[in-house]
Amino acid sequence: MNKKTKLELTWIGKENRPKLEPRILLEDAEKSCHAPHRVSENDFFDNRLIFGDNLLALKALEQEFAGKIKCVCIDPPYNTGAAWEQYDDSIEHSLWLNLMRDRLEILTRLLKPDGSMWICLDDNEVHYLKILCDEILGRPNFLGSVVWQHSVQGKGYSGKFSVHHNYLLAYQRSEAFVLGDLPRREEHNTNYSNPDNDPRGPWRAGDVRNALYRPNLIYDLITPSGKVIKPPPKGWRWSKETMAEKIRTGQIIFRNHETRIVHKIYLQDQEGRVPETVWFGEDVGTTREASSESKKLFGLTNAFATPKPERLLERVIQISTQPGDWVLDSFAGSGTTGAVAHKMGRRWIMVELGEHCHTHIIPRLKKVIDGQDPGGITEAVNWKGGGGFRYYRLAPSLLEKDKWGNWVINKQYQAAMLAEAVCKLEGFIYAPSDTVYWQHGHSTEQDFIYVTTQNLNHDQLQQLSDEVGPNRTLLVMCTAFRSKPERYPNLTLKKIPKTVLSRCEWGKDDYSLQVENLPQAPPKPGQQHLGLE
Ligand SMILES: C[S@@+](CC[C@H](N)C(=O)[O-])C[C@H]1O[C@@H](n2cnc3c(N)ncnc32)[C@H](O)[C@@H]1O
Repeated sequence: MNKKTKLELTWIGKENRPKLEPRILLEDAEKSCHAPHRVSENDFFDNRLIFGDNLLALKALEQEFAGKIKCVCIDPPYNTGAAWEQYDDSIEHSLWLNLMRDRLEILTRLLKPDGSMWICLDDNEVHYLKILCDEILGRPNFLGSVVWQHSVQGKGYSGKFSVHHNYLLAYQRSEAFVLGDLPRREEHNTNYSNPDNDPRGPWRAGDVRNALYRPNLIYDLITPSGKVIKPPPKGWRWSKETMAEKIRTGQIIFRNHETRIVHKIYLQDQEGRVPETVWFGEDVGTTREASSESKKLFGLTNAFATPKPERLLERVIQISTQPGDWVLDSFAGSGTTGAVAHKMGRRWIMVELGEHCHTHIIPRLKKVIDGQDPGGITEAVNWKGGGGFRYYRLAPSLLEKDKWGNWVINKQYQAAMLAEAVCKLEGFIYAPSDTVYWQHGHSTEQDFIYVTTQNLNHDQLQQLSDEVGPNRTLLVMCTAFRSKPERYPNLTLKKIPKTVLSRCEWGKDDYSLQVENLPQAPPKPGQQHLGLE
């Protein structure tokens, strides 16, 4: 028997996957916010704030944003067992892993090939999530695990570690991603000197050993006087040819009577500073700094319980994006990611299901747009205000049950909403024509979709078929039709809701998963199933 096994993390309910309805997003213009005039040429007005469960919201974004997001930066509930004031953080491990897996899969699909994902966590789940991320994003795409020193003051419980760090797991979508440099300051140049008066200026010695085992780079090095220098255990950093070239140009010199080599890294070649994996509180802020930012924004009594400091997000965005790139945070909290992205000239999307979407995020971003938020990174990036965002909520489910328990089109859907929703469901781009009534959307230049609640008869279908003509095709989504579909070769006829019923889970609004819904462990062989619901 061919037993295929793989290295993976398993948990109760891992095999359960939701069949998500691709909802449309409805803008509430009253809650959207736009600066009255342009402050700079680089103002962005199309940022998005979505109120609702992030699983449905991410699914809703997928059609438009798949492959477009440059940086996903999330700070999900840590699963600490604590119940914070604004949201419930005590989700059991299996439930938490399911919650994260379903979201991470869509988030991954939203990333650009040169995009990256940053996930802030603590010791409660980080090691489990690392293995899960390896499964979803691919182990070779792991960039590193950053240790963020979130507090400086000791906690003072003797006999226990005083925990001073959180993690940021960083993954690239593919090898196309390039980790950016950090700005260089004078203090970073102290290791450079010029003891041999090298005309290229100060230098420091760099590593000559390969970090990975590279058999093809394991070779003896012959010095100018014929001595042999043995290779490091994993090999040199360069091929024989590159090594010879570096020796010729003086970038590699011999030392200690030609028993070792020194690789010169010149200060003049260093534009930025390679990011390290330990981020100190004094450089990127601490939770105390974040709380004080939150108090300044929302007042002493209304500060958000678990904010991140703006400087932490600034660093992530700085090394993973360029101005104009899309940054996405689907666990927005008090909106730090969006506020920082906005001030740094990036586009942003945030999703938040808590009421603090209205009490914290909207007022915060309004202040940023109005140039009325002097805190966080405002001064450092010289932010003066501008731009805007649109506020959306998820549309209700397209289908609802009538009083006899039959699925019918939701009464809240008027014609335009219905057309948009069905386009999304069928994978068409919603682009209703002003002049042609049957063109609600298209999948290619020749393939269109028409959505109607009518019961179409032969005359109507024949007229449609004639208008579409021999060189185009049309998908007709209607409630019923009274004719034989084969009579119209350029039309495909489908009934709604009948043909879409099995497509996804209808009428389900909450995927935020409550602890009561924890999946049950399957009964052991021979054990009676208790049938508890
Ligand atoms: C740790 S907080 C994020 C804090 C944020 N980084 C900040 O600086 O304010 C996590 C947030 O995720 C939100 N959240 C949890 N589950 C969610 C879900 N299913 N959909 C949307 N938001 C969710 C919580 O309401 C909470 O605001």
